[in-house]
Amino acid sequence: MAYQELLVNEVSISKLESVAISAILRASDVIREGFYSTLSISEKSGPHDVVTQFDKEAERVIIETISKTFPDHAFLGEETGPRGASHKEITWIIDPIDGTWNFARQIPSFGCSIAAVYENTVYVGVVIDPVANELFVAKKGYGATMNGKQLSTSSRSDLSISGISLRVEMLKSIPENFGILRRSGSTVLDMCYVAKGSLEGFIDRNINVWDFAASMLIVQEAGGMVTTLEQAPLLLDHTKKQSVIATNRLIHKELLKWISLEKK
Ligand code: IPD
Ligand code: CA
Ligand code: CA
Repeated sequence: MAYQELLVNEVSISKLESVAISAILRASDVIREGFYSTLSISEKSGPHDVVTQFDKEAERVIIETISKTFPDHAFLGEETGPRGASHKEITWIIDPIDGTWNFARQIPSFGCSIAAVYENTVYVGVVIDPVANELFVAKKGYGATMNGKQLSTSSRSDLSISGISLRVEMLKSIPENFGILRRSGSTVLDMCYVAKGSLEGFIDRNINVWDFAASMLIVQEAGGMVTTLEQAPLLLDHTKKQSVIATNRLIHKELLKWISLEKK
């Protein structure tokens, strides 16, 4: 019997994947070259929330690349908002630079993220670290890879030797032997570090859909678990900010015990 590939609204999932990869590689070149050039930095909601000309340029090249193949698809980009939004079409959710604060301060820790979503399901997620040259790719039901190598989350189940990315003010108290805290300043990279088994867990609040859409699928396809702090599935809704906990699954419940549900 001939192998039938998954179709997403009549488009093969491999076609979505290859277009997503072309777009993210183009954006990665823009971002890497931008990082070593002169930046024009402006504040969005305040000094902690900044944008540069390369956030906008990276988003532009992503939309341009995808539109060439899929002129009817919809977009939700952090910098340009919803475009052609329609429940009947595939929507591409884009965070052109995640970790712009690092980017603007010359800290080489930021990622670019693209997800292809249809009827409330992420089918393809791609993330790239343009400086380390690490490309993460996930297809729903087909697993996740980094630079072509299959990913799986870590098998550590002991919180005291786990690597966790969180803000300490989110803890009820700081327990002894809590594990090793590491935070890159980029949600998409920290979630991909859970997918590749370098961290066991990542937690944050006030996360937008473009911060997690692609990396959520990458973690899930690598065998991990992603929920809100109330243990509900995350919604692909750009009007809501949500909490997120992404883990190797083994420490999910134990880690949640230490987290304060009070909003901080
Ligand atoms: C931010 C980063 C950061 C997280 C913020 C996000 P941006 O995204 O992911 O790690 O703490 O909540 O807004 O603004 O650099 O795309
Ligand atoms: Ca961003
Ligand atoms: Ca972001």
